[in-house]
Amino acid sequence: MFVFISQMPILETPRLILRPFREEDIDHLAELTANPDFMRFTLGPYTREQTQGVLDKFLSWDKAGLPSPFAVVLRENTEVLGYCGFLHHPEVPGEVEIGYRLDPAYWNRGLITEAARTVRDHAFEDLKLPRVISLIHPENIPSRRVAEKNGMKIEKEITFRGFPTLVFAMTREQWLAERGAG
Ligand SMILES: CC(C)(COP(=O)(O)OP(=O)(O)OC[C@H]1O[C@@H](n2cnc3c(N)ncnc32)[C@H](O)[C@@H]1OP(=O)(O)O)[C@@H](O)C(=O)NCCC(=O)NCCS
Repeated sequence: MFVFISQMPILETPRLILRPFREEDIDHLAELTANPDFMRFTLGPYTREQTQGVLDKFLSWDKAGLPSPFAVVLRENTEVLGYCGFLHHPEVPGEVEIGYRLDPAYWNRGLITEAARTVRDHAFEDLKLPRVISLIHPENIPSRRVAEKNGMKIEKEITFRGFPTLVFAMTREQWLAERGAG
């Protein structure tokens, strides 16, 4: 039997482990995507089949050597609490998004800010990406706040999948300047 071994690293933050997704994460992920709060600012909760489609997409990017979302796991247990990492959209060619969703039971503890910073540093430091974006609905205040805390700035507003969407962006040059200043 062929066993896929991800090329993605395992990243660590003070409170979290960010690891590649695996086929067996489907149960945890389906539980999360059935929750309307976890799925805020999408078309709504997903069925298990739709969630399997999402997981398949994440794994296919990883298999193709594209940076993908990481499973967000607390250091103290192995439960998947969400995802944070790289998304690729045909509607915005040439761009790599840092996207994230977290179990609502864990909101407002700074966890995704912690994850997003580490993912951003990985993008510039290890993957040498020229820039990253985050696509955020203007009314999604927590997500906007995470992007701001991650050093990203609003570049423009676009329509993405029929919704008004702010493009937050950070270039490698801006990241280097911020790091130098810090
Ligand atoms: C966006 C999301 C991942 C943030 O996760 P999180 O771990 O709670 O984020 P953090 O705790 O790191 O930061 C949240 C920030 O938003 C702020 N915030 C949250 N709700 C707020 C509100 N109603 N008004 C103002 N600020 C708010 C928090 O105070 C915090 O900012 P602070 O550190 O300056 O106080 C989480 O809310 C989520 O999963 N939402 C549903 C999915 C989603 O919208 N994903 C993003 C799609 S673009």
